[in-house]
Formats: sequence, C-alpha cells, structure tokens
Amino acid sequence: MSAFLLMAFNEFGGGKENMANHKPDDCLLVIFGASGDLVKRKLIPALFALFQQKLLPEHFAILGAARTQMTDADFRAEMADAVRDFSEHKPRDDAEMEAFTRLLHYHPLRDYVEAWRRDEVSEFAHLKAQIEAIAASEGLGANYIFYLATPAKVFGDVAEGLGAHGLQNQDHGWRRIIVEKPFGEDLDSARKLNQRLLAIFEEDQIYRIDHYLGKETVQNLLVFRFANGIFEPVWNRQYIDHVEVTAAETIGVEERGAFYEGTGALRDMVQSHLLQIAAMVAMEQPESFEAQTVRNQSLEVFQHLRHYGPDEIAASVVRGQYMASKIRGQDVKGYREEDKVGPDSRTDTYVALRVFIDNERWGGVPFYIRAGKRLPTRATEAVIYFKPGAQHLFGIDNPLRAKSDTLILRIQPDEGIVLKFQMKAPGPGFDLQDVQMDFHYSDLTDVHLPSAYERLVVDAMLGSPMLYARGDVIESCWEFITPILDAWRDDPKIGLYGYPAGTWGPPEADDLLARDGATWRYPCKNLAERGGTCVL
Ligand SMILES: NC(=O)c1ccc[n+]([C@@H]2O[C@H](COP(=O)([O-])OP(=O)(O)OC[C@H]3O[C@@H](n4cnc5c(N)ncnc54)[C@H](OP(=O)(O)O)[C@@H]3O)[C@@H](O)[C@H]2O)c1
Repeated sequence: MSAFLLMAFNEFGGGKENMANHKPDDCLLVIFGASGDLVKRKLIPALFALFQQKLLPEHFAILGAARTQMTDADFRAEMADAVRDFSEHKPRDDAEMEAFTRLLHYHPLRDYVEAWRRDEVSEFAHLKAQIEAIAASEGLGANYIFYLATPAKVFGDVAEGLGAHGLQNQDHGWRRIIVEKPFGEDLDSARKLNQRLLAIFEEDQIYRIDHYLGKETVQNLLVFRFANGIFEPVWNRQYIDHVEVTAAETIGVEERGAFYEGTGALRDMVQSHLLQIAAMVAMEQPESFEAQTVRNQSLEVFQHLRHYGPDEIAASVVRGQYMASKIRGQDVKGYREEDKVGPDSRTDTYVALRVFIDNERWGGVPFYIRAGKRLPTRATEAVIYFKPGAQHLFGIDNPLRAKSDTLILRIQPDEGIVLKFQMKAPGPGFDLQDVQMDFHYSDLTDVHLPSAYERLVVDAMLGSPMLYARGDVIESCWEFITPILDAWRDDPKIGLYGYPAGTWGPPEADDLLARDGATWRYPCKNLAERGGTCVL
C-alpha cells in the first residue's frame, strides 16, 4: 500500500497510535529553484497542508536554495504569501502561519551550476555547511531530501554537485533526490539523465515526479480493479471493445509559450501522464501492492505497446494546433499569436493516438489517447467501452446503433466513477434508455482529498516510491514516443491540423476512431446548460 494511503487511513480511521508508527523520520528538505513558480503554487502549499494535518516529521526543516538573493525573512514572507494565495488550507491564525514559516530557511547561491561546470565547487561546499548547520541546530539528524524544482536542463548538474560533496552518501542517514518533470525530451536525453543520476544515487534514492501518479483517482484505479471481484473478470479483450484516455484543457499556453514551443502535447501530456494512466487501466495484477511489483507491471504494459513503423505514424497519430477563434463571444488568440511562439510554429497543442497493447489481455483492443489545449472543457478521464450485449432482442439489429456500457473513471475535475448502461424505458414496449450509477469523491464529505504534491512529498519522506516513475519505465515510454517525434520533425508530409480554439480538436482525430466505428466521448457536451461546470 502507498505509505500515504496508509497514513491517511490511520488519520481518518485508525487512531493516533497507528499514525505515530508511520510518521516520517526527522529530515531536512532542501529545495533547489526555491524562488520559482512551482514552489509557490504547489510545493509550499502542499507542505503547509501536511503541517496543518500534523503529517510532517517530528523534527523537520525546509531549506530553499536558489540564485535569487533573499534572506530567511524574505523567503518566509514570500512563502507565507504563497500559502495565503495558493493553498486550499488557509492558516487558522497568525500563530499557525508563524509556526510553519519558522521551518523555512534560505540559502542564496551564486551561479552554482555554471561554477560547478567550471569545476568550482565552492557553492555546493557552502550549501553543505549550511545544511549541516541547520540539521544540527534543529536536531534533525542526517536524513536529507533534495528536491530539484529548477528547469530540467540543470537536473544532472545539481545532482553531480551534490555528489561531489558526498551529499548522496547514506552512511549517517538516508539521502533522497526528487526530480521534477520533464524527465528528458526524448529517449536519448532521458537515458543520459538516468545515467548521470545513477552515477551518483542508487535507483531507490531517486524519486521522479509524475504528479498524475500522485492523484487519488489514478491510484484508485488499482483499488477499483483489484479489490473488487466484479470488474476484473470482464477486464479484457473478450468484453472490452476499446478504451479512451482523454486529458482536455480549456486554457492555452498562457505565459509558458517559450517552454511549450520545445515541448508540445505529446511530450507534455502523453509521454508521462496519459501513458501512465493507460498502464493503470491495462496492467496485470501485481503480486503485492508494493512499489517494485506495481512498477514492474506498468513496465510490462509499455514493453507490449505496439511501436509504429515510419509509414504508420500519419495514419495512427493526429496532431493539431489551435487557431484563433471566439469562445463564448470572446476573441481568443491562435497558438501562433501567443507570446514567445513562432509565427510558423509546428508545435502540437493537440494530439490523438490509436494505440495497441499486444498481449494476451489486450490484443486487438484499441486504446485511443488524446490530449489538447483550448478544448471546450477541462476533463481528464479514462473510459472503458464494453462490447454491447444482445441488443437485437430489443429491436436494435444495426450493430452501429448498439450501445456500449461505459465505465468512466474521472480523474479531474469532479473526481469519481460512473457506470453508464441501459434499461427498459418505463411504459409499453421494450425501448432502451440510458441510465447511470455514479460515485463522486465529493460525496465523501468528511474525507480530505490530499493534493498530488502532498502525497508525493510525504511518500518520499517515508521512502515509498510507488507513486514515482522508475527510470526504466520512463525510458520505455520514450522508446514508444520518440519515433513519433522524429517522424514529425523529419517528414514534411505528416500533417499538422488546425482546430478553432474552443472546439474538440481537428476532424482528422474523429476519423481516427471512425475507421473502427468508434467516436470520442465528449465530456460535458452541454456545458453551457450546466452553468459551465463539468460534472460527470
Ligand atoms: N510550474 C508548474 O506548475 C510545473 C508543473 C510541472 C512541472 N514543473 C517543473 O518544475 C520545475 C520548476 O518549475 P517552475 O515553473 O517553478 O520553473 P521556473 O520558475 O522556470 O524555475 C524555477 C527556479 O529555478 C531557478 N533557475 C532558473 N534557471 C536556472 C538555471 N539555469 N540554473 C539554476 N537555477 C535556475 C530560478 O531561480 P533562481 O533564478 O533564483 O535560481 C527559478 O525561480 C521545472 O522543471 C518544471 O518543468 C513545473
């Protein structure tokens, strides 16, 4: 079981005595890139939530490190603002906020990466001295977590700087490194980064973030499948017609144009998050619910992904880019008009794939995966379409009109599970009517749904890497994705299709499914009628 799930269970049902057994060891969390956006928006609010729930270690401190010149007091004030602005958990009073910010320290670094590349290691030496001083004065022992919240291009350098000072060495306490995403931009760069990290840290010291794996609803997929006897017997190619995994966003690239130009939807969403969700849907039952066995099973899925030949990519993968349009009467820019985006950019803001997993369970079952920006609504979900039953008995003899029972696993928003099926419409005759049974997490009013970052941070403190991506698993995803990126770069015949902002992507993505007689689900089709809220 994920360490966090166990703690949460204890917190809500198992009593304080059990919980104390699972409190993380005392430790120091060192955050590189502590002046950045992620730290303010996600990491510090998550740490504050853990603080408020008393889930942090007994003795604990946070050391922010970055090139921005700040004092401890500046850093504390900035992080207090971040909690007030971005945390769902508001401080109960000033004393609580103060108690939290007392955990925070800051260490300014001068061009430490460049200095390290020039073989000048003094910046890391100063940092090490500061780490040891805080650990001693706060009585933390020698357990350290290094969180790399810097741009990805310096992950390898920071790890090497730490290694040069023995900060990975576990003789006197455990040492762990959390690496943000993206992990590589293709197979080659991911392999190189793995090699650099593994030259310093052991695999079990490395925690590669995929914040989708930290989401309650993604983890629940495993519980749903394997703890209930009812679904697993029909979870295979005999009964399932196809599977859809969708991540739809309403926003465009906003101020992240420069980042997105080198990334695109395939890298940003499919390579990491959506393939991981597909693996949760598709994996075999692990022997036990432990990091190693669960991650072995996702690797198995990726190793059975059918790789596209160069001639198959145009027919199996559709890429799109949003164009200027009006959404609810408002003018919306096209991607090429966005700040820091080239006027002839070929970056994909939308991608749809038809994927096969060639194994005993899934042979012949298409997995349709799509991700896009500037779509009509925000929704991430996996949808299982079961093969129709004997609907001809009820007058539906055209197989194209036969309806699938569908199981919708909604990851966000309105997290929950819906089973859609058919029943007899009341009254004379045997007309069929769609109905649904649904579960919404929001119905569990007394349960706090921890954010992905809360769960991931505490799991790293507890030494539980199940919700982090393993190096070989990431490489296996890149092995599948990289040939697509190469073909897009090298083959000018492969189209890039425009779609007006606020629509469901290019029509070519519909054709991808139409060939198999399938259609995409359009979550929240009637969004306007529902006042803009995307409910299941
Ligand atoms: N923001 C998000 O929601 C989000 C989501 C998913 C993943 N991530 C990942 O999380 C990491 C941090 O994201 P972010 O949005 O906070 O990034 P960011 O603002 O671009 O960078 C974070 C900090 O890194 C430092 N930095 C920038 N360039 C550097 C360099 N060349 N060498 C050393 N330090 C440098 C900067 O601090 P100083 O100049 O003070 O050193 C900056 O404040 C990135 O890897 C990103 O891909 C972010």
